[in-house]
Amino acid sequence: MQSLYSNGFEKIYDSMYQTFINYKDEYLFYSTILKKYTKNNVLEIGSGTGNLAKHFIDNNFNYQGLDYSQDMVNLSSLKLPKGHFMHGDMRHFKLEKSVDSTIITGRSTSYLLSNKDVSNTLQAIHINLNNNGILCFDFIDANRFFKIIKGGKHLYHAASFNNKHYSRDSYLNTNTSNNFMFDWHSKYFQIKQNKKILIADDKSEVRAFTKNEWELLLHLNNFKVLKFIDKPAYMFDCYAVVAQKIA
Ligand SMILES: C[S@@+](CC[C@H](N)C(=O)[O-])C[C@H]1O[C@@H](n2cnc3c(N)ncnc32)[C@H](O)[C@@H]1O
Repeated sequence: MQSLYSNGFEKIYDSMYQTFINYKDEYLFYSTILKKYTKNNVLEIGSGTGNLAKHFIDNNFNYQGLDYSQDMVNLSSLKLPKGHFMHGDMRHFKLEKSVDSTIITGRSTSYLLSNKDVSNTLQAIHINLNNNGILCFDFIDANRFFKIIKGGKHLYHAASFNNKHYSRDSYLNTNTSNNFMFDWHSKYFQIKQNKKILIADDKSEVRAFTKNEWELLLHLNNFKVLKFIDKPAYMFDCYAVVAQKIA
């Protein structure tokens, strides 16, 4: 699962995703929600290479990042020496001090393949959140996305960053063997002198969710849903959910 996030690929991820995702807009999205609930300290789960962290740190949020890939953590710490990045698993983590808000970003919820994974994550977040703390995260909306990829769909993305040119050929198909899973086969290429050089070939099984699933999973794990927000992303139909810890 982590091949796309480690062993050197984290550097390519870092470049490519800065062309796929507008991290300034992501920051505006999350910070507007956190400010509304007067939350100034935040834990980002799935902090990746720190592209979103930079904006939180520059804007004086008390920020911590957590990621499962040690290579992602190392790269974000190198890029942002003022940042506090931890290696950990969202399903089982314990902070030294609880936080006022937690965000799970970049559709990292897609890696919570079982309902047990989801419950473990929500319980860990609950323990590490202050009373009335805010949880906000995005997820791929199975209801819309599965209608697009049903029967299989090819998608192509090009990315140019710092004079390096990359492309990604994806093939996606539904796989409902266990929850609303989908298979994502992606081939990553670097383009040099008009030649496509294969740099990674990844086959992952990831998960989309419906709003109803999250409503129930959050309720069962002592979070109150405040709202769902339609949040389309560069490739996926997504929602974000804002929830509050209840005792
Ligand atoms: C699609 S990337 C998103 C990274 C970043 N949020 C961004 O937008 O660029 C998903 C991230 O989730 C992390 N991840 C996957 N499973 C995780 C887990 N169980 N606990 C913490 N992080 C996890 C991966 O290592 C990866 O950095």
